Amino acid sequence: MIAMQEDKFAQQPARQLDHRYDGIAKVTGRAKYAAEFPVKNVAYAYIVQATIPAGTITSIDQAAASRAAGVYTILTPFNAPKLGELGNVNVLQNATVLYSGQPIAVVVARSLPEAQQAAKLLRIDYKEQPAKLDFKALLNNARPPSRGGASRRGDPAASLAKATAVVDQTYTTPIQNHNPMEPHATIATWDGDKLHVYDATQGITGVKQALARAFSIPQDNVRVECPNTGGGFGCKGYVWSHTILAAMAAKVAQRPVKLVLGREQMFGPVGSRPNTYQHVKLAASADGKLLLQQHDSICYTSLIQDWVEGAANQTNLMYDSESLATSHTVVPLNLGMGTWMRAPGEATGTVGQEIALDELAEKLNIDPIQLRLINYAEKDPRQGRPWSSKNLRQCYTQAAERFGWSKRTAQPGQHREGNKLIGHGMATANYGAGRSPSSAIVRILPNGRVYVGIGTQDIGTGTYTILAQAVAQALNIDPTLVDVQLGDTTLPRSGGSGGSTTAASVCPAVYEAAQQAKRKLAELAVADQKSPLHGADVADLDTKDGKLFLKSSADAPESITALIARNGGKPIEATATSEMPKDRDTFTSHSWGAVFAEVAVDADTHMVQVRRVVATYDIGTLINDKTGTNQLSGGIVWGVSMALHEEALIDKKYGRTVNENFAEYHVPVNADIHEIDVTCLNIPDYKFNPLGARGIGEIGITGAAAAIANAIYNATGKRVRDLPITLDKLMRA
Ligand code: MOS
Repeated sequence: MIAMQEDKFAQQPARQLDHRYDGIAKVTGRAKYAAEFPVKNVAYAYIVQATIPAGTITSIDQAAASRAAGVYTILTPFNAPKLGELGNVNVLQNATVLYSGQPIAVVVARSLPEAQQAAKLLRIDYKEQPAKLDFKALLNNARPPSRGGASRRGDPAASLAKATAVVDQTYTTPIQNHNPMEPHATIATWDGDKLHVYDATQGITGVKQALARAFSIPQDNVRVECPNTGGGFGCKGYVWSHTILAAMAAKVAQRPVKLVLGREQMFGPVGSRPNTYQHVKLAASADGKLLLQQHDSICYTSLIQDWVEGAANQTNLMYDSESLATSHTVVPLNLGMGTWMRAPGEATGTVGQEIALDELAEKLNIDPIQLRLINYAEKDPRQGRPWSSKNLRQCYTQAAERFGWSKRTAQPGQHREGNKLIGHGMATANYGAGRSPSSAIVRILPNGRVYVGIGTQDIGTGTYTILAQAVAQALNIDPTLVDVQLGDTTLPRSGGSGGSTTAASVCPAVYEAAQQAKRKLAELAVADQKSPLHGADVADLDTKDGKLFLKSSADAPESITALIARNGGKPIEATATSEMPKDRDTFTSHSWGAVFAEVAVDADTHMVQVRRVVATYDIGTLINDKTGTNQLSGGIVWGVSMALHEEALIDKKYGRTVNENFAEYHVPVNADIHEIDVTCLNIPDYKFNPLGARGIGEIGITGAAAAIANAIYNATGKRVRDLPITLDKLMRA
């Protein structure tokens, strides 16, 4: 099936869309997001959150709240309907409080202000219990997680004993909270036992399945729509409590319900990137060969479910070493659940590993790039499988050249411009490549346009754009003639938009459906006595710019619109499914990059400016320059955030995030971001899929924070191993 098309796909020149398919709709406000759909008689729901971190709700007096203006209904653990099968979500099924901020009631009213006002009138009594909130104090209680854990190769003790240089340090990263521009939002409407939902999500199919299970109805009774998602980054990959609660509230209130989380509600009930406490031990011989890599990472987990920030996972495969030992353990705390956040594992793990490598390079007096080349993994070190494609050496070379790495002063604190200390640092970026099965429908329309429908979603990454391109490429037409529909579970099923898998999953399905539609068109022409192509060999026909023609002679072109008009005037339609390649277990597909940073640190105030970031990535085919490099540079911006700004501060007594707003939860603003120069090698990985594209969403954040931390050390001679690297830490260092 797909494999047949491989050569063809590879050889055709890409027809790129220069602008985002959905760009104009977005900047003019025409693009609708979940909360913006006009639904008649919609009521507004507001989630009430626990104010204690641990204990039991003993009573909720709702008398005054129920009498408040505009209130339709109030749901609490004492009156909420019992639901069917649930994920790890708190949806009023019991009175236990596991973290401060946990949803404990829902007020449904005529307007949002009325719902919020009534919520204030609820009288909630708790029986409090001692809460576990102090991560550092509980570090010794860290235990293996319910799933995943440790890896080991060789003989770590023997390797360590042989070493000339050893780095043995601890690196820490803080809890981070998701804050896409669009907060989570759901509108739920029941019609009998049929449920219709607009939901801000990274996976419409997952939402449909979760709702069907929760309300014990067939999946076909649930329709989920999400034509646009205002950023996801992992938080909208899970079906959280608010989605279930909106549907529950709509059922009880017997009217459509809209539930939108406030910005402060993004800190707790919808996941976070757990903190990490990473112990890294690197041991090497004098020539720079790694003898031992040890990486033990501890993170917090909620009491709801074990969730691990897999910081040590990438250490298992990034470099060769004689021995290796990695592990993950967790410290259960009374906090909201951990979840996926852009490059979960690699984003934090590259901080520990890539700063440690910088420290090792200094000890050995070897250039940091050279140290990485000495330990280059030619095969997947985990089991010796070949890579489907790996060109990391070229990433180092190209990015170093553009950055001007050869002019770097290796000795720290030596490069000064006025009162600015200038520093240069680098790190390796990496992220895995995955794909999931996907189906799509393509219709060649009588008016000359082409429709493609697929049950995926665009989380702002450019899915609309690359799907228009995939059809355009298959049919050899201008991509502006393609109409893309997605974000609706009535369309052919596709996977979630997470783990950098979307492009690699959906493009092959769409391309194949377009190919099949083309074949049907050719069959129609061959059978049509009025067609100049009558009686020709179907295999000899191709399309270009609205015409069917003979490949062998480029003669006898037939207009596609005329052909369809003569034959009933109906769209020519085909559906196709792309599957995983059968030999998937014989190789490892992984993406790579090299990221370089230049910082200027004010010698007096210790303020850090990231002046330049230069990076080159090996991500297979770059399907679209604009959407692809946007993804990568967006990831780097988040790397700046990790390095310098971002941190959720937890109150150790009350368990609440103290800085649950954009004034105090610092993320970079335009003034913090300077030159970001991103390129891709654009070397297709056809072993991975027919596009040769490995996905691009997550890798940009990986390595970026480490490169900046390493640059700060090069500038100042101060090694801060606790992110974010704020002024006070630099001052004290
Ligand atoms: Mo990504 S963290 O899988 O959305």
